[in-house]
Formats: sequence, C-alpha cells, structure tokens
Amino acid sequence: MTILFVKANDRPAQKSISVKMYEQFLKRYRESHPEEEIQEVHLYDTPLPLIGTSLIDNSNQAPLGLNLSPGNLSAAAIQQQHLEQFIVADKIVIAFPLWNLTIPAALHMYLDCLHHPRKTFTYTKDGVKGLLTDKKAVLLNARGGIYNKDDLSEMSVRFVRNHLNFFGITEITECIIEGHHQYPDDSEKIIKQGLQQVNRTAETF
Ligand SMILES: Cc1cc2nc3c(=O)[nH]c(=O)nc-3n(C[C@H](O)[C@H](O)[C@H](O)COP(=O)(O)O)c2cc1C
Repeated sequence: MTILFVKANDRPAQKSISVKMYEQFLKRYRESHPEEEIQEVHLYDTPLPLIGTSLIDNSNQAPLGLNLSPGNLSAAAIQQQHLEQFIVADKIVIAFPLWNLTIPAALHMYLDCLHHPRKTFTYTKDGVKGLLTDKKAVLLNARGGIYNKDDLSEMSVRFVRNHLNFFGITEITECIIEGHHQYPDDSEKIIKQGLQQVNRTAETF
C-alpha cells in the first residue's frame, strides 16, 4: 500500500490548523500503519506548472510524437511526475485551508496536473467516466467560518471533492475544523475536537 500526503499550506504548524491536521494525521498514520509506504508532496516547495500554452501545446503534440521544445518538456515533465505519483498511490490525503472562499492557488495548479484523458478519466457515450475508482481519500480542511454542505459559496472542500469525484474517487472522508474565527470563545474546543477526529481517521484509514 502506498499513501500520498499532499500539503497545500506553507505556514508553520503553530500558526496553521490545516498544517497541524496534516502533521498529526501523518504521525498517527505512521504509528498505526508502520508497514505502508508514505510519500509527501509539499506544494509550496514543489515546482508546479501554470496551465497555458506550454502545457496545452505539449498535451496536444505528445500523442502525435512531435518534437517538443525544452520549455515544453520541463513543464510537461513536472506535470507527468505529479500525475504518475498520484496514479500509483492507493490512498490520498490532502490538507488545505479555505482562503477567500476557495483553495490555495498551488493546490489548483496541482489538481490541473492530474487531469489526463485516458489516465485519470475518459469520455464514453454515457458521459465522462473517472478511471481511479480503486482509490480512497481524506480531505483535511480548516476554515474560519461555518458552512453547511449546500452552501455554494464554499468552493474549497466542494472544489477538491468535485475533482476527486471526476477522477472516479468517491470514497472520501472529510475532516473539517471550522468556525474558530466565527466563534472565538469556542476556538480551543473546536480545534481540540477536530484534531481528535483527525487522529481517529488516521488510525482507521
Ligand atoms: C487569506 C485568507 C483568506 C481567508 N478566507 C476565508 C474565507 O473566505 N472564509 C472563511 O471562513 N475563512 C477564511 N479565512 C480564515 C481561514 O479559513 C482560517 O484561518 C483557517 O484556519 C485557515 O487555515 P490554516 O489555519 O491552516 O491557515 C481566511 C484566512 C486567510 C489568511
């Protein structure tokens, strides 16, 4: 079994709840699954290609076997690396904050790397079909306000879940610590309870 941990926040754990969730999940997972291979991607320390001419031209040219410029190759190589690493993982954990109603831009760029017709999804007569149906995932998210599941203004957990569903990953556990800004008097309790849920999830994932 291989598990891939993706961290989309470069703040230190003392200042960041989603990073605390990430570190605690990782520690508890290691203790409870000593035999499993763990891979980590820290998105702020990792080159990520911005989708644009270079990547688009490359994905158009590559299937035809045309020559690629060095610029195309490096953007494509980075994308390929993230894509292949994601495809071989059996389990995925993604930790990220809610910023300005959505996800950090680095996570958006990472998710862009994972879209590949034939590798992560395919088109069928009945519509698009995700190809990664044998994976499961945990989303670790921190957000200052409280959002109910139907609130369309929340484009963070909803956004990542939609992407994973698109790839066929439907077994998704969400650990969300929320409301610590909205209810500052309760923040300590909210965070403590959330981190307990993180521990329980890490043990059974
Ligand atoms: C730049 C920025 C934007 C934020 N935007 C929102 C927001 O749109 N909605 C919300 O509920 N909280 C928002 N917050 C609060 C964060 O969601 C909260 O601080 C959360 O704990 C962030 O995760 P972190 O502690 O891992 O950094 C924002 C915080 C920052 C720093």
